[in-house]
Amino acid sequence: MNKTPDDLHNRVTNKPMRDIIADRSRRSFLKSAGATLGAVAAQGFVGSLFSTQAYAKAAQSSLQFTELTRIYDKMHHVADGYKADVVVAWGDAMKAGQEAFDPTKIDAATQADRFGYNCDFIAFMPLPRGSQTSDHGLLCVNNEYVSPNVMFADMTEDEAGAKMTEAQVALCNMAIGHSIVEIIRKDGVWSVVQDSPLNRRITLDTPMTISGPAAGNAHLKTSSDPTGTMAKGTTYNCSGGVTPWGTVLTCEEGASDTFGGVTEGNPEAAVLERYGYDGSDYYGRARFDARFDMAKEPNEPNRFDWVVEIDPYEPNSTPVKRTALGRMSHEASTVVLNKDGRVVVYMGDDDYFEYVYRFVTEAKYDPANPASGKDLLDAGTLSVARYDADGTLTWLPLTHGTAGLTADAGFADQSDVVRKARLAADILGATPMDRPEDMETNPVTGRVYAVMTKNKKITQDKLNAANTRPENLWGHIVEMIPPGGAGVDADHTAEKYEWDLFVLAGNPKDPTTGSTFSPDTSENGWFVNPDNLTFDPKGRMFVSTDGANDFDIADGVYGVDTEGPARGLPKLLFACPIGAEASGPCFTPDGTTLFVSVQHPAENAETLDKAETLWPDFKEGGLPRPAVVAIQRNDGAEVAS
Ligand code: FEO
Ligand code: CA
Ligand code: CA
Ligand code: CA
Repeated sequence: MNKTPDDLHNRVTNKPMRDIIADRSRRSFLKSAGATLGAVAAQGFVGSLFSTQAYAKAAQSSLQFTELTRIYDKMHHVADGYKADVVVAWGDAMKAGQEAFDPTKIDAATQADRFGYNCDFIAFMPLPRGSQTSDHGLLCVNNEYVSPNVMFADMTEDEAGAKMTEAQVALCNMAIGHSIVEIIRKDGVWSVVQDSPLNRRITLDTPMTISGPAAGNAHLKTSSDPTGTMAKGTTYNCSGGVTPWGTVLTCEEGASDTFGGVTEGNPEAAVLERYGYDGSDYYGRARFDARFDMAKEPNEPNRFDWVVEIDPYEPNSTPVKRTALGRMSHEASTVVLNKDGRVVVYMGDDDYFEYVYRFVTEAKYDPANPASGKDLLDAGTLSVARYDADGTLTWLPLTHGTAGLTADAGFADQSDVVRKARLAADILGATPMDRPEDMETNPVTGRVYAVMTKNKKITQDKLNAANTRPENLWGHIVEMIPPGGAGVDADHTAEKYEWDLFVLAGNPKDPTTGSTFSPDTSENGWFVNPDNLTFDPKGRMFVSTDGANDFDIADGVYGVDTEGPARGLPKLLFACPIGAEASGPCFTPDGTTLFVSVQHPAENAETLDKAETLWPDFKEGGLPRPAVVAIQRNDGAEVAS
């Protein structure tokens, strides 16, 4: 579509794209173009809105910092006027009297009380509980997986599963899950309170309760748990969320790599296949523990791929797998307290052509009584998203007995619906997406954003209105607009929202990408492969990326306006060292610190001796270590203010 004076007018008068769509109507545009053209037309239309720079005055970002010049080397880098200090790294001590990390001494026993590997989602939980303290709190961090090729000598990524010793596998099992560390800021420097009684590791061995509809389902029963209600451990903890009652949700993003053994003869073979369980035993676990051998424990996989609720303020509490939120490769579980008191959780299922989900609790939460949050996530309505070309988003309920989710279709009851959520969503006609990663709500506008990181498998015939580029190597961000108004007025329980494509990522200089950043985006500002999101207290988006190394640029963190003249204009704030992705961005309540996980530094190396960085210690004979950094302004003021 050619640009028109109307396009120009809309952009320079700061008209939100929602209004542009309502007024000029993508709907009528698409109708006139014909429904079958929806996918391509939507892309062309949005693209045209961003291609008016020849006529427009350069937009000014509201993010007040001097953009980092793009750089990709063995160090991390942050914009001028800022510092990015390591707060806690893999192997760091979390108990009184422990010595500093020594790579030659680390084993499963020592790892059990030390910070885990490959940090991802971060929640800053203020101390005391319920406060808005920004100098003291619990850093709750997912430890998604391990990178044996840069943890051990002579170990390529491909051979690790077969080659690791029992001791190495045991160490890896202790290094994943979740880490809770008390941290405190003094004179602008964050440090771990090493002897805090609240410090805690959660691993592949930690006992967990299974609750909600799938608890006790026959397909969750194993030889060690004939009741199907007590699981052991968690893995692939990717992104997550925080509840209004002060618990952390950690997402299990698919345990399929964790299992070995054949699925042949398993009556649930089709379900295992849909969830990617191919017996790859990528981490060698099945060789040493029958629990991970699907031939011996065919139901064990069903006890993973859930959302797990952890109370970080109660170090002896038992984590709970909340099955009402469905079983999938959970990336995110962003929580919103709706204006009517019901609690809403948005979730992405990070796999090719998987879906975006929403859960709405049946009961209401009473902020005056935090105990009312207990078990609130066990009952409610799970729905899956269908994005129509006319700009309407419809949430389709995954409710047993409705819309074909019946015994005849293989769903005996709601426990089967949540356990096989992907298959149920197929029946409902949900929109297949380009790998949904994080979701986040803008606290100021109430709009919800879902990140599609990339999808190399999508071909022309599989495009749809919300996933518009064949072989999408760059990713995009979808914007969802609940009805009811901005901020707290937004109704996150409505059946229908409006939606839009916020940005299509990619290098704007390369027209084959079709990227749609603001035309005023700099050489340093564009990004690829968005993964995690967060918002600052002013409602500006911060995006972390995973995959930019394939484009020979660093993964990092970008601030982006979602409103105003600079909507869709990213600015580079932080760059990772070689091989690392940035993940888990999280602000303190006052916006003065942005915590970021630097995950898998040097992981691109074939073997440890070829590691291009030993970040962050750079010690001869040492190891690269994933770590959480704290980004702060040198003067201590709010980030980007
Ligand atoms: Fe763990 Fe989807 O990244
Ligand atoms: Ca991720
Ligand atoms: Ca997030
Ligand atoms: Ca990712």
